[in-house]
Amino acid sequence: MQAVIRYLKQNQARFIDELCEYIRFPSVSAQPQHRQDLHACAKWVANHCRRIGLEARLCPTLGHPIIVARTPRTKGAGARRPRFVVYGHYDVQPPEPFELWKSPPFEPRIQGRSLFGRGACDNKGQNLAHLKAVEAYLKTGTELPCDITFVIEGEEEVGSSSLASFLKKNRDELRCEAIVISDTGMPTPKHPALTYSLRGIAAFEITLHGPSRDLHSGIFGGTVDNPAMALCQLIGKLRDKNGRVAIPGFYDDVQSLSAFERKQLRRFPFNTSSYRKFVGAPKLFGERGYTPIEQRSARPTLEINGLTSGYQGEGSKTIVPAWARVKITTRLVPNQTPTKVIKLVTQHLKRLCPPTARIEIKSGHGAEPYLVSPTGPQAQAALRAIKAAFQREPVLMREGGSIPIINDFKKILRADALLIGLSLPDDNAHSPNEKFDLDCFAKGQLMSAHLWQELSQT
Ligand code: BES
Ligand code: MN
Repeated sequence: MQAVIRYLKQNQARFIDELCEYIRFPSVSAQPQHRQDLHACAKWVANHCRRIGLEARLCPTLGHPIIVARTPRTKGAGARRPRFVVYGHYDVQPPEPFELWKSPPFEPRIQGRSLFGRGACDNKGQNLAHLKAVEAYLKTGTELPCDITFVIEGEEEVGSSSLASFLKKNRDELRCEAIVISDTGMPTPKHPALTYSLRGIAAFEITLHGPSRDLHSGIFGGTVDNPAMALCQLIGKLRDKNGRVAIPGFYDDVQSLSAFERKQLRRFPFNTSSYRKFVGAPKLFGERGYTPIEQRSARPTLEINGLTSGYQGEGSKTIVPAWARVKITTRLVPNQTPTKVIKLVTQHLKRLCPPTARIEIKSGHGAEPYLVSPTGPQAQAALRAIKAAFQREPVLMREGGSIPIINDFKKILRADALLIGLSLPDDNAHSPNEKFDLDCFAKGQLMSAHLWQELSQT
């Protein structure tokens, strides 16, 4: 282990250069014009894996390629060694709006201990940290106590639609004791964390169609319904005055928080007023009767993610628009399911649509919520590794984001996930000026190095 730790220390500068190289690929999975960039990025990852001593292959899919890279298997070894899968993603969220970036999103920039660039923390920096830990073992000739297979995909940010069937097809090869994922966060640099729950998601795109084309609002306005107005009225009905989602049946399957868990969540380092300042909203808002921590991790929500209609250019254009569109996602908690929520939302919207407009509803990606007990031996091993690397007592937490594939891992490979996030709340994931903290990068590598020792003893 000493050689591994020394190797990590001595090579930080190069690791940072490599992370910059990785970030330079504009691997935006949501945008079709970046298809080639995703492919190039995947190729870079596969080559990188080979260079550090892994056996890697690039697996084409209907969407973006998946990289599978394994530590060399010791031949003829009698007893089967424990095996773990590390999951990560090389795709990133769209960088827009460009004008809010202090430096271009795909031209990495270091300032102090922060490395700025789209994908820096979500998720390139975090999966590279694990690759660097394994590199340290392989390059120092230190024997790994387990076999490790990396699965790094390019569709996480758009719902991981290719990966589930890939897991089914490669079930035997990927069989493992647990999945290790660093794609979540920690509350402060002094509070490294193990996450034991994530919210699920169901996405929708709803269009109200009005007249067959944009009409002169002076000549026709007053005789036809305005789809933008109708849509606003419709979506205005989806939330009540207590901040609850006003869709019949929406809360039916929601598991309520136990008194014990609520008490645990209250111990969490959180300051409401600095949180409000950080998000920059005039006042916080959320479901009545719950704390912000509960609202954002253990309660379901419905959010508008985008709203479009009519003329968006400069100046005015007097029209009744032909259509109006809203993008909505709901975040789900145990035991809600995307299938049922999609049905409830769709039925309710159809009922609410006035006869003066035609509604079109597309449901997009969905993911089930995730919850696992943090008391098992693997979780305890992970907590020990986190503590060894960060020299701090780790906290247990629930998070509000989603990792769509996590329940497929559970169902297909029958393995739990260990969510060890390295991202900080001010890393600006999905926002302009995304960054990754270089100390988190270094400590993440160290955590990964310890993790294989700890996990292999369980
Ligand atoms: N890394 C996030 C998920 C995450 C973030 C979990 C913070 C917990 C805390 C992941 O890359 C992500 O953004 N997922 C998307 C999935 C969606 C597009 C299907 C999300 O949560 O919005
Ligand atoms: Mn993300």
